[in-house]
Amino acid sequence: MKISRPAPLLKLLSVSFVFGSLALCLSAQAQAPNPAAPADAPAATAGAAGTVAGGARGGNPPPPPVVTPIPAGATPILTIQANDMTKKSSPILYGFMTEEINFSYEGGLYGELVANRAFKWSADQPNFWLLVQDNGGTGNMALDPSQPLNLALNTSLKLDITSASANQRVGIANEGFWGFPVRPSTKYTGSLYAKASANFKEPLTIALVSNDSTKVFATAQIPALTGDWKKYPYTLNTAADVTPTKDARLLIWATTPGTIWFDQVSLFPPTWNDRPNGLRKDIMQLLVDYKPGFLRFPGGNYLEGRSPATRWDWKKTIGPVEERPGHVDDSWANYWSTDGLGLMEFLLWCEDMKAQPVIGVYAGFSLGGRGGIAVGPDLEPYIQDALDEIEYVSGNVNTKWGAQRAKDGHPAPFPVPMIEIGNEDNLGGGAATYPQRFGQMFDAIRAKYPEVKIVSSTAVNSRPVDVIDYHSYPRSAATFQGDSGHFDSMDRNGPKYFVGEYATRVGTPNNNTATNNMDGALGDAAWLSGFERNSDLVMMASYAPLFVNVNPGGQQWAIDLIGYDALNSYGSPSYYAQKIFSTNHGDAIVPVTGTNTPTLTRARDGLVQQGAPLFYSATRDTKTGTIYLKVVNVGNSPLPVQIDVKGVSSVAPDGQLTTMAASAVSDTNSITDRTKLAPVTTKVSGLSTSFMRTFPPFSVSALQIQAK
Ligand code: AHR
Repeated sequence: MKISRPAPLLKLLSVSFVFGSLALCLSAQAQAPNPAAPADAPAATAGAAGTVAGGARGGNPPPPPVVTPIPAGATPILTIQANDMTKKSSPILYGFMTEEINFSYEGGLYGELVANRAFKWSADQPNFWLLVQDNGGTGNMALDPSQPLNLALNTSLKLDITSASANQRVGIANEGFWGFPVRPSTKYTGSLYAKASANFKEPLTIALVSNDSTKVFATAQIPALTGDWKKYPYTLNTAADVTPTKDARLLIWATTPGTIWFDQVSLFPPTWNDRPNGLRKDIMQLLVDYKPGFLRFPGGNYLEGRSPATRWDWKKTIGPVEERPGHVDDSWANYWSTDGLGLMEFLLWCEDMKAQPVIGVYAGFSLGGRGGIAVGPDLEPYIQDALDEIEYVSGNVNTKWGAQRAKDGHPAPFPVPMIEIGNEDNLGGGAATYPQRFGQMFDAIRAKYPEVKIVSSTAVNSRPVDVIDYHSYPRSAATFQGDSGHFDSMDRNGPKYFVGEYATRVGTPNNNTATNNMDGALGDAAWLSGFERNSDLVMMASYAPLFVNVNPGGQQWAIDLIGYDALNSYGSPSYYAQKIFSTNHGDAIVPVTGTNTPTLTRARDGLVQQGAPLFYSATRDTKTGTIYLKVVNVGNSPLPVQIDVKGVSSVAPDGQLTTMAASAVSDTNSITDRTKLAPVTTKVSGLSTSFMRTFPPFSVSALQIQAK
């Protein structure tokens, strides 16, 4: 079989192999699936309080921490004032932020396996699609905008089979997003639109096949086509003895001459909760296990685009998937989004995680911006879009947009507790106009939806904002460790805070990896202890970016929380550190004081930080009395700590300890070693109102103490 890409081609590979009983020849243009942007662009950002920017990637590994010894004979003591529960801890403190970056949806969470399913990725050539010419069969393929499926999918793929026979098959093949995930005993659900010239009467065959074409994992037939566009559902079932692989592609072929047009060629694996057009199960499992309180979407820069035309335009992301035009994600790498994961899918994603939506609405400012859309009448259509969006999500079915939501399959309204106006409007020239743009949008949303909390994307004084989104992306763990007290003495009478994007951007090698190492997790965990201690003020926190496809070319941004390829996914050490926090969280903050805790000096980025190598916070469940003590030991030696529980009459001797510990800060997880670092939960005994516990070096722990 000869398999080739259409012109213009860069480089031709030629491989001979065997497909069934046929000797085949494959030719293909070497082409990275992703025309990725330079990995450092756009830059990371500063948040509301104006600290911390991304800066250059790379740099030296962190110097080893230097711990100043505890005074001779002194024992570090953490004293928990367990009866002081006056401050409520935000119930939605730990959540997620998401946007299309690093192949987050197609090639990531969104279950679609066919890359460039509607052929709109490029107007020049059908990226990800190959021409199949088996054993002397001939044909050619090309985009055909003259035969669109509809107004939204305004092109199709035309396959002209000029010569074919039973052993000279001709067809097309899709490479998927770095392969197709093939698993045993699995049902894949697909559909495609097709039509054919009058002389073509034959059924098509569709199959999942190994890249060298020696293995056919599953096959289905598409009945004879007609001259009109028609949708053809199909299923592919793999056998029980299939070895899991991502070394596979999707093939569609025929054995007689004729012309066939294809559009919206789609294939899904089993999805989370079996939703059609649904989400990938393994990644959803990681998300659900985290017990997130909220999901901020759709960005991030992805909300804004480089221009208003490439912003995330929610009205184009709803309804039947084959009627969504899609758009180019020019915020990141100029790659195509079909918007198959659109507004409804974001909301169902929230519902499936039992997380609140935090919807970002376009505020008239794009990355290519220069101040954005002028306030006044020019901004009105965008404000109307935001109001319509709230109505779509939460309006009753008698409203225009509530009725549309019902038509789209979800009559019950979704909650809209919070709306964020814009994204990082302090950057790129947005700051000068944000107070006015924010003011105009705030007034309209507040007037119609007074119960909705309004989040500003940066600090703003033009209106009484409810919540400020604050972003921070330091390049050293020491920065977050040194700044863990960031919110300790902030005004409690002003707006609440949403740390909508944060990450310690370190990993190996050269901080250029998809996901971080334990050093980064220890920076993030120290920072989290500060959020939790201040979670009467810090309502929500979310790491960013959430996802990365770890294949070469899949990544636009280092460092990310969850990595995957077509077959597997894994949590970074920071994912697990945060999961330890989010799954050990009470509804009241209880004060913890440290005595004799050692001090640490760490130099990085020209800074010398003084701080405690022990970071800690505690919350308590006011119904059950359970205390959740978090301890982060960033030091390189085991640390025995005395824990005193004050204000209770008794502590049960048995408790539960969850710890993630590393032998070196450079330890990490990867797609090939997915749980090298992961929390371990054990029963512990010997607890009382005053007891000793030793925390391992480089560790994040949550201790559950039952107290009355
Ligand atoms: O999380 C990556 C990017 O960082 C977001 O898109 C943007 O809001 C910030 O600059």
